[in-house]
Amino acid sequence: MSDFEDTIARDQRIEPGDAMPDGYRSTMIRQIAQHAHSEIIGMQPEGEWITRAPSLRRKAILLAKVQDEAGHGLYLYSAAETLGADRGDLTRRLIEGRQKYSSIFNYPTLTFADVGVIGWLVDGAAICNQVPLCRSSYGPYGRAMIRICKEESFHQRQGFELLMTMMGGTPGQRAMVQDAVNRWWWPSLMMFGPPDDQSPNSARSMAWKIKRHSNDELRQRYVDMSVPQAEALGVTLPDDELRWNADRGHYDFGTPDWAELTRVISGDGPCNAARIERRRRADEDGAWVREAAAAHARKREKVVA
Ligand code: ACO
Repeated sequence: MSDFEDTIARDQRIEPGDAMPDGYRSTMIRQIAQHAHSEIIGMQPEGEWITRAPSLRRKAILLAKVQDEAGHGLYLYSAAETLGADRGDLTRRLIEGRQKYSSIFNYPTLTFADVGVIGWLVDGAAICNQVPLCRSSYGPYGRAMIRICKEESFHQRQGFELLMTMMGGTPGQRAMVQDAVNRWWWPSLMMFGPPDDQSPNSARSMAWKIKRHSNDELRQRYVDMSVPQAEALGVTLPDDELRWNADRGHYDFGTPDWAELTRVISGDGPCNAARIERRRRADEDGAWVREAAAAHARKREKVVA
């Protein structure tokens, strides 16, 4: 048994300097880069509401949340760098469509209720997916996930609190919340990835303890957790097949439109082109900052030498 296999079998962590199979390294870079890209692109749908938040308090919360997402992205790019990846190269791959980011961020945010629903449902799904990743076998990724999950938990609560407030408001506000829930529920279920029998990476990632649960297991856990929360809020989830199954001890639910997920992942979702174009412009606009930071670092090196 190699040192790598032994470390995995003992449920211990692989660290950056350790020997690892090329496939493990490339799988980790793929997942961490996609995760980082999702955090950075994920700033856009909600960021659009910062200038239109209905109060100073809501604006301050939203600003803090969007800044957290930037922090998560930077953290994760650093984790990818420990595996030998180059941040600039990862960004280029994203912009050129050679690396993915979460399907969920390709849907539009039509009203301020979407901000609440993204917090409740999207960040709720992110937590459900990412808490087990705190025990992921690659050390820097697992450790990054601990802080990220704590911040995601704040994001989820602010969303739920915002929706509770709106549900206590006018009939128009309640209708706005229900409409947002109707639009975001199914895309949130798709965040967990394709069904297990169509998930090419799962078996290997689970054997390497990168993933701790399958896509379908986590999706079920998310449905079970969300139904009582929807009841507490007073909204309905848009699924006629959703009902408690006492034999299974879980909620049964309908089948997401997997063709839609495939379309959105392959670049043909409602906002894919706009998201990437904005990311490309931000990268170009930030070039001078990166050049200035590099020049400053070179100057400091000379002073120290
Ligand atoms: N959106 C975009 N791409 C997806 C999605 C999705 N919702 N689900 C699966 N895919 C992609 C996979 O990345 C994979 O593509 P690739 O082989 O070209 O990389 C392909 O579809 C097949 O899926 P799986 O074999 O199931 O892939 P994997 O084992 O990597 O599981 C999952 C997918 C569950 C998303 C996993 O990568 C993961 O847990 N990632 C970390 C969490 C994350 O990235 N969250 C981002 C959104 S949360 C947030 O930022 C708030």
